[in-house]
Amino acid sequence: METIHQSVRTEFRYPVHFTRGAFDIGNMALREVIASGGSSRRTLFVVDEGVCTRERNFLQQIENYCRFHADSIENIAPPIVVPGGETVKNDSRYVDSVRSAIHAHGICRHSFVIVVGGGATLDMAGYAAATSHRGVRLIRLPSTVLSQNDSGLGVKTSVNRFSKKNFLGTFTPPFAVINDFELLDSLSDRDWRSGTAEAVKVALIKDREFFGWIEANAALVAARNSSAMEHLIYRCAELHLRHISGGDPFETGSSRPLDFGHWAAHKLEQLANYNLRHGEAVGIGIALDVTYSRVMGMLAKDAWQRILGVLLDLGLPLYAPELETGDLLNGLTEFREHLGGELTILLLQDIGKPVEVHSISADKMKESVAALSQYAPVCSL
Ligand SMILES: NC(=O)c1ccc[n+]([C@@H]2O[C@H](COP(=O)([O-])OP(=O)(O)OC[C@H]3O[C@@H](n4cnc5c(N)ncnc54)[C@H](O)[C@@H]3O)[C@@H](O)[C@H]2O)c1
Ligand SMILES: [Zn+2]
Repeated sequence: METIHQSVRTEFRYPVHFTRGAFDIGNMALREVIASGGSSRRTLFVVDEGVCTRERNFLQQIENYCRFHADSIENIAPPIVVPGGETVKNDSRYVDSVRSAIHAHGICRHSFVIVVGGGATLDMAGYAAATSHRGVRLIRLPSTVLSQNDSGLGVKTSVNRFSKKNFLGTFTPPFAVINDFELLDSLSDRDWRSGTAEAVKVALIKDREFFGWIEANAALVAARNSSAMEHLIYRCAELHLRHISGGDPFETGSSRPLDFGHWAAHKLEQLANYNLRHGEAVGIGIALDVTYSRVMGMLAKDAWQRILGVLLDLGLPLYAPELETGDLLNGLTEFREHLGGELTILLLQDIGKPVEVHSISADKMKESVAALSQYAPVCSL
């Protein structure tokens, strides 16, 4: 018997641009990204309805931009506008509508799907692009805080199935990401604030100094100060990108540091029928896991209080009634199933100092939920 040991090696590179007014005629970012592709100028836009406010006249902006840059961009159809939010991942009609348009308009692997939207729209359109022709190039313009500092930067695409978040999905790096800070102006206060939970997460596990910066600037960020928010997004994006390139981008291991606070978050989102924002659920998940770390005697009281204080100053909820349902702990099993391998949960020994554990005590977790309920305001939906 003979064996050929095959090895396939490939490197992915993509730029993440930070700009304002990506569709101003004079803004070259998108034009240059498309030109860098070389072979095709064809584009198909997918746009989150939330971005299309009356003041912005966004679809007209896209049309004007493409017309002005027609030597570099051949936009072959009007943008597909989708509702945004978890609906686009729950209802398979949306992913099908993007695939149908890719088919109908002759979008090939060298052409571009350009998606503008929150994390849910990016995930859905990314999944449609990744699974058409085994992968059409995707340019993301994330339009929420969460998608600019976290979900829009990475290599994952997905939709929900069987009431499970991200059950269908791929690991597919984007062709480019353009973070346009101006898009954030139209966000509701809720979406402005909720994405900041991912910055707290990454600071807690990777960068004590950044945590100090967030602590000092939390009130400013919550009050919609743009330059403070831009700094928060930039640093959070940088830490996420560094982690993705240095670690295990296609998640073959069992350890998922960037999923700190997420086992409970994913379960809570489902238990709350997706009426909680992902960022809100992550904030609650962090509050729960640091409280558990405290209950287990790992985390000092002072650090625990500082962390809850920062989440509160950012205007994030620390608690949701769904924490008390018996189903919460199933979130641990589902989390392990989704990632594969051994259950691996990150807890905190100190700010910037995480520790991995492989089992969670149900009793101590219940005690932590009770402790948190004493402390925390409930999410006001
Ligand atoms: N792929 C990944 O690695 C990854 C990582 C984290 C989270 N996610 C996913 O991201 C999703 C959450 O993303 P999100 O927090 O960005 O929320 P979201 O995509 O659900 O959007 C929230 C709301 O904001 C609206 N909106 C978007 N941009 C707007 C703008 N500029 N102005 C006004 N309204 C706007 C949307 O229409 C929607 O109603 C979840 O589905 C989560 O699972 C994916
Ligand atoms: Zn997250």
